[in-house]
Amino acid sequence: MSDELKKLAAKAAMQEVRSGMRIGLGTGSTAKHFVDFLGAEVANGFECICVPTSEVTAAQARSLNIPLTTLDEIDTLDVTVDGADEIDGNRYLIKGGGGALLREKIVAAASKKMIVIADTSKMVDSLGAFPLPIEVNKFGLGATTNLVKKIMATFGAQGGLVLRKRMGGETFVTDGGHFIMDASFGRISDAKALSNALLDVPGVVQHGLFLDICSAAYLASPDGVVAIGDTV
Ligand code: 5RP
Repeated sequence: MSDELKKLAAKAAMQEVRSGMRIGLGTGSTAKHFVDFLGAEVANGFECICVPTSEVTAAQARSLNIPLTTLDEIDTLDVTVDGADEIDGNRYLIKGGGGALLREKIVAAASKKMIVIADTSKMVDSLGAFPLPIEVNKFGLGATTNLVKKIMATFGAQGGLVLRKRMGGETFVTDGGHFIMDASFGRISDAKALSNALLDVPGVVQHGLFLDICSAAYLASPDGVVAIGDTV
C-alpha cells in the first residue's frame, strides 16, 4: 500500500477525535500517520490524553508532545485508532503484523470505539491469507507449538507455523517479553471457534484475531476513502 493511501486513511480518521478525548494510539506504518496528525493538532492546542499500544508509538507520541497515560490511571478510552493486516465484511480483523497485538487488543477492548485505518487492499472476503500472529509465553515453547499445530490441523490450515524472527535472525520479542508464532491458515472459516481454541492453550498469551472489536474503518483507495461501520 502506498504511503499516500495510509496517510489518507489516517487523515480521514481524524474526524473521529474531539478535543478532550481519551485516545488509544495504534502501532504500525498507518497508525504512525495518525499519531503525526494528532501531534500537529496538539501543537495547535488540541487537548487529549492518550494510551500508546507499543513502545515505538509511545516514543513517537512523546516526540510530538502528545500527553500519555496508562490504563492503570484511566480504565476506559473514548476511541482507539489503529491499522490492520486484514479486515472482512463483519469488520473482523487480523492484527499483529507489527508484533503489538496484545497491547493493541487490551487498548481496543478498553475503548468505546475502535477505528481501523487501512487501504482497501486489506479488505478480504475471508480472513487467513495473512498469517495469524499468535503471541506465546517463552516458557514451554515446544509444548505450545505442538498444541497450536494440532489446532491448525483441526481448522484445515494450508500452511505452517513459524516462530517470528527479526531481520538479523534473532527471535522477535514483544514489548511484553513474549514470542510470536505466525500461523498460515490460508482461509479461516470459523474465526470465533479458532479464537476460543487458541485461547484454551495455556502458553498462548493472545492472538491477532480481533472479533467484534472494530466499530468502523476508513479504507483508502486511489478513488478516495470509504468509511464502513459506525463512523461519526
Ligand atoms: C501491529 C499491527 C498493525 O496495525 C498492522 O500490522 C498494520 O500495519 P501497517 O499499518 O504498517 O500495515 O497490527 O501489531
